[in-house]
Amino acid sequence: MRLAVFVSGNGSNLQCIIDAIDNKLLNDISIGLVIADRECFAIERAKKSNIKYLMINRKSIDFTTIDSELIKEKISHIVLAGFLSILDKSFCEAWKNKIINLHPSLLPKYGGKGMYGIKVHQAVIDHKEKESGATIHYVIAGVDEGEILLQEKCNVDENETASSLQNKIHVIEKEILIESLKILYAKA
Ligand code: GAR
Repeated sequence: MRLAVFVSGNGSNLQCIIDAIDNKLLNDISIGLVIADRECFAIERAKKSNIKYLMINRKSIDFTTIDSELIKEKISHIVLAGFLSILDKSFCEAWKNKIINLHPSLLPKYGGKGMYGIKVHQAVIDHKEKESGATIHYVIAGVDEGEILLQEKCNVDENETASSLQNKIHVIEKEILIESLKILYAKA
């Protein structure tokens, strides 16, 4: 299985995949391409690991070019790891069941357009939820709407802040990300 990882931010989940491959926790899986829709630290991580990367313009994403780059690099699956741009419908359909997304809540709660990063955790706190978590799901055209592959919960404690909840979920999202890649590999 050869992955493309789409990123927009810190890239800690990209790093988690890189480390799992290096530590032989993911056999027969490689990262062929990192695609970033803005300048971000994730690119530094790709460079450090000698992974080819491609910068795209998030204001005018050319999905035909992305598609041909993916084919050129023999990519079989795509991971959206903190990628904040929305993929177009025909791209999602062309890669059906081959794209997964990581989302820091218990979908279908707290998902959809504009729900990303700390905003998700703030909404969970504002609604006085008792639990939250992370979800890995297949990507379809509707934002955060595809079939759920894995989900893991955590408690929202008394005195929890959006930031402390984010830290908790950063840990669990990495666990289900690696597990999901194993599931995808088994299905490939
Ligand atoms: C992750 O927490 C991921 O769940 C979230 O962005 C963060 C990216 O972190 N994704 C979303 O909010 C998607 N709607 P990273 O750049 O360190 O991997």
